[in-house]
Amino acid sequence: MQPSGQPTLGNYIGALKNYVKLQHTHDCYFMVVDMHAVTVPQDPAALKEQTESVTALYLAAGLDPNVATVFLQSTVHAHAELGWLMTTLTYMGELERMTQFKDKSAGKDSVGAGLFTYPSLMVADILLYNADLVPVGDDQKQHLELTRDLAQRFNTRFGETFTIPEPYIPKVGARIMSLDDASKKMSKSSPNAGSYIAMLDAPDVIRKKISRAVTDSGREVKFDPQQKPEVSNLISIYAECSDKTIADIEAQYEGQGYGPFKKDLAEAVVATLEPIQIRYNEIRKSGELYEVLKQGKERAAAQAEVMLKQVKEKMGF
Ligand code: ADP
Ligand code: NA
Repeated sequence: MQPSGQPTLGNYIGALKNYVKLQHTHDCYFMVVDMHAVTVPQDPAALKEQTESVTALYLAAGLDPNVATVFLQSTVHAHAELGWLMTTLTYMGELERMTQFKDKSAGKDSVGAGLFTYPSLMVADILLYNADLVPVGDDQKQHLELTRDLAQRFNTRFGETFTIPEPYIPKVGARIMSLDDASKKMSKSSPNAGSYIAMLDAPDVIRKKISRAVTDSGREVKFDPQQKPEVSNLISIYAECSDKTIADIEAQYEGQGYGPFKKDLAEAVVATLEPIQIRYNEIRKSGELYEVLKQGKERAAAQAEVMLKQVKEKMGF
């Protein structure tokens, strides 16, 4: 996750929730990708604060640093180094096709070169650990395809080295949409705070944002992403924040309109986020982050160095 703003409910449902699940069945590495965040201008003090905040949210959501390796990308130098080597293997055309680059650069006069090449750095983030599985939201599918292509390309040119990773994308909740516009994904880098629910939004802010969320003019609580994208997005959020299925929710609010549905949805979101917020505040107070990150950096660097050395030897360094 990038420390580029306040992590949202979309980041939680699409990614973080699955990190927590997978840590018990897999040998996991979870980093905060601070070097990706600087592909757009960041205020240094804000970057530092957001980096600590995202790390604390990882732990508050349930990542156990004794089970999974939790670290900052910038503290493990092998990322920058393999990132460069991967950039040299990437074709301009592959980067030009990236929809995320097109979205993030659209209408801007000056676009940093790093925004263009960062998918190659992401390739390195994944391949350094020989990852089998990468838990991501739907928006990262294309970057994962590039990772698979580059792993294959390297193996073909220089000999069998990398595992070809698979994306792990949730069936429901892989693409949580904005509350003000269901054609855009919910994102922490949106300038409009009403368009997302931040994981750290106070309960009353969450209630207000959900009550103001855009719906269509009908009154049927029905899951139909084509005809009713706004309501369908809210139903997905509800299903992910409760033990109800989409069908349960449709049945429960049949003939009742949006009012009662939105009210209960807000409470389900509050019930999901409030315990995380309480743990978050404890973690920030305790100062335990520094020790966690130091340990994580050592574990990650040990693994990454071995891989980088192999790669450099194969390339003729
Ligand atoms: P953002 O766009 O909010 O800045 P990041 O680029 O930091 O998000 O992505 C962190 C993780 O969260 C990625 O795995 C990404 O696929 C996932 N993610 C981001 N936004 C959403 C969303 N709206 N719905 C589901 N998953 C998302
Ligand atoms: Na559910």
